[in-house]
Amino acid sequence: MKPPPPADGLTLRAWDDGDAAALIAVAADPELRRWTSLRVTDETTAAAWLRTQQHGWRTGTRYAFAVLDDHGLVGHAALKRPDGEVGYWTAAAARGRGVASRALELLTGWAFAEFPDLGQLRLLHQVPNAASCRVALKTGYAYAETYAAQHPFPYDGHLHVRAR
Ligand SMILES: CC(C)(COP(=O)(O)OP(=O)(O)OC[C@H]1O[C@@H](n2cnc3c(N)ncnc32)[C@H](O)[C@@H]1OP(=O)(O)O)[C@@H](O)C(=O)NCCC(=O)NCCS
Repeated sequence: MKPPPPADGLTLRAWDDGDAAALIAVAADPELRRWTSLRVTDETTAAAWLRTQQHGWRTGTRYAFAVLDDHGLVGHAALKRPDGEVGYWTAAAARGRGVASRALELLTGWAFAEFPDLGQLRLLHQVPNAASCRVALKTGYAYAETYAAQHPFPYDGHLHVRAR
């Protein structure tokens, strides 16, 4: 399966083993620890995380992309299957310049093109994560529902949905 063609200044490609050092550097950010399950601190945890992403591609359960611009790694965007849930993060140094929303738009178009069975895509974020809510809304993921907090998430969550 091919990744989406580069667009809007961003390239999405499957994570590979050569990303370990950049991943370790980016994953030290407390905001990523606060809002995502990413727990990469060293070469061992980076290798395990990269193996999980590669396993997802092989099994068709999770399509995770490294997001790159001219400066290198700036983020991550992923589609889970079969439920059609999307997720993303942006490296701290690259926030506030539309990386997440551009990457999500690319991922969304790719997902609908590759998986004709997907009638809609789902996006979940914890309610106090206002930046993520904004990314969802400006990328056409309409607010759909609020879920009560559920382990491991300490806050209530918003479900956003984008129809095909
Ligand atoms: C959420 C996150 C992915 C946004 O990445 P980004 O590349 O900065 O996103 P964009 O630049 O595309 O858009 C961010 C939007 O949120 C807004 N924003 C940023 N911080 C905000 C805040 N504290 N409150 C409200 N809006 C905020 C920005 O102004 C921007 O909106 P605008 O374009 O209307 O001005 C990034 O902050 C991040 O990686 N956070 C940690 C991981 C995470 O939360 N992942 C999502 C889990 S659901």
